[in-house]
This record gives sequence, C-alpha cells and structure tokens, in this order.
Amino acid sequence: MTPHTPRRRSAIVTGAARGIGAAVARRLAQDGLPVGVVDVREVDCAATVEAIRAAGARALAVEADVAHEAAVADAVARVAAELGPPTVLVNNAGIARAASLVDTTTEEWDRVLAVDLRGAFLAARATAPHMLDAGWGRIVTVSSVSAHGDPGRVSYASAKAGLHGLAYTLALELGPHGVTSNAIAPGFIATAMTAATARRLGRDVAEHERLAAAAIPVRRIGRPEDVAHAAAFLASAEAGFVNGQVLHVAGGPVG
Ligand code: NAI
Repeated sequence: MTPHTPRRRSAIVTGAARGIGAAVARRLAQDGLPVGVVDVREVDCAATVEAIRAAGARALAVEADVAHEAAVADAVARVAAELGPPTVLVNNAGIARAASLVDTTTEEWDRVLAVDLRGAFLAARATAPHMLDAGWGRIVTVSSVSAHGDPGRVSYASAKAGLHGLAYTLALELGPHGVTSNAIAPGFIATAMTAATARRLGRDVAEHERLAAAAIPVRRIGRPEDVAHAAAFLASAEAGFVNGQVLHVAGGPVG
C-alpha cells in the first residue's frame, strides 16, 4: 500500500526560534510542509521563518508560551487558519534548570514541568482534533536521555521521563485513528542550551564539547540536524508503522 498524506496539511514546531526546533522546522519545510514556527516571542522566530521562505516554502511565526493553555489554543487555531490543518506536531520547546533535589525550588520545579511536560500535553491536545479530522497525524515529542535519570537536573529529568509516558499513551489512544506518537531522546546536541551548561560549569564551550565527544561512542557531539533527520522520518508517511517508540539520537546506546 502506498503511504498517503492528507492534501491540506501543515506542521507545528514549538520552540522553533533556534537550536533543534529551528533545524526541525527547516527540515519539515524542505519536505514540503508549511510550518508554524512557535516560540515565546514572535520576533525571535524571524530567522527561522526567513530561512524557510528563502527556500521557497511557507512559514508563519506564532508567539506562544507553550505552558499557557489559551496561547497554545490560539497558536494552533492561527496555524490551521493560515497554513492548513496541523497534521504534524513536533513538541520541542523545553527549558532546563540545573539543581539537585534539595536545591530545587518549588517554583523552578513547576516552571520546568509547565514548559516541558504541560506544554507538550497542551499542544498535543489542541492539535489532535485536526489530526483526527484528517484521519492522519504525526506527533513527535523531543524528550532527552536525561529521562533515564540525570543527577543535578531533577525537574528536567522528571519532565522528560513524563514525556515518554505521554508519547506512549498518545500512541495507544490515537493510533487507531491514523495518528502516531513517538519521542526522540537526544543526547548532547550543540545548541544554546549546551553552551549555557558549559558556562555554568566554568568551561570554555569548545572544551566542553570536546569532553562530551570523547565520551560518545561515535566520538562526536550531535548537531540540531541530527535530530531534524530523525523527526523528519517520524513525521513522514513512511513511518506509519512506527508508533509509541523512543528513538535515542545520542551517538550510542542509552538506558
Ligand atoms: P534551546 O534553548 O537552544 O532552544 C529552545 C527553544 O525553545 C528556544 O527557542 C526557546 O525560546 C523555546 N522555548 C523555551 N521555553 C518556551 C516556552 N515556554 N514556549 C515556547 N517556546 C519556548 O534548546 P535546544 O537545545 O534546541 O533544545 C530543544 C529541545 O531539545 C528541548 O526540549 C531540550 O530539552 C531538548 N534536548 C536538547 C538537548 C541538547 O543537548 N541540546 C539534549 C536533549 C534534549
């Protein structure tokens, strides 16, 4: 059977202003999808939108904090109205806080869980009706190898582990309706997030990356495009039999 995709369709990528989200947005656009580029500030989405339009595809900058229910609902409605029904969602927006259990404040815990876990839930809930209407959809959720435990980042690791539960459950609930749900768990991917970690550890970014690469079986650090390739596959028609999986994009086995 030839894999099919709906005629009218679009993708939403959260946290797409920079880093992994920007690479995923550019790649999905290359694959023929109009892309809603969602991030906290519309102005920050300009570079991603510009790159997509320069390549001849359609993109829309949409301002939304994924932790805010109404903002997410509005963002999804705007993308549906201006680009077409979102049949692909990439839950990528995320923040990390470095603190062990005893040093994590309740406010920090709540904020990390709100962005990383609640944000993915809100975006999936707002987007799923469009996928169910189309009888086709792809939800790709960016978790992390930290989901397996990450001393010193208790809120982040907990939120990312929660995303695996979300991804599995959506696979079971939505699979019968043509909608798949998978997670990508990246390892070290060079972005602003890893540069911030280097600064926190008092390391030069290049040195931090060199040390990370030495501990990775393929002996290099990841690039945002490594995650984008995996997301493009999971979002494709050809991935219709891949559902409820966590794909580690980490240069080696994890877990
Ligand atoms: P980044 O910090 O470079 O980019 C994150 C993007 O998300 C930014 O554009 C930011 O403005 C946006 N964002 C943050 N809070 C938001 C909110 N409340 N609403 C909407 N957008 C929001 O980070 P990076 O490295 O590109 O990370 C992307 C995802 O990949 C995150 O979920 C992160 O946890 C995950 N990840 C990253 C790894 C890495 O090594 N860089 C490893 C494993 C997972």
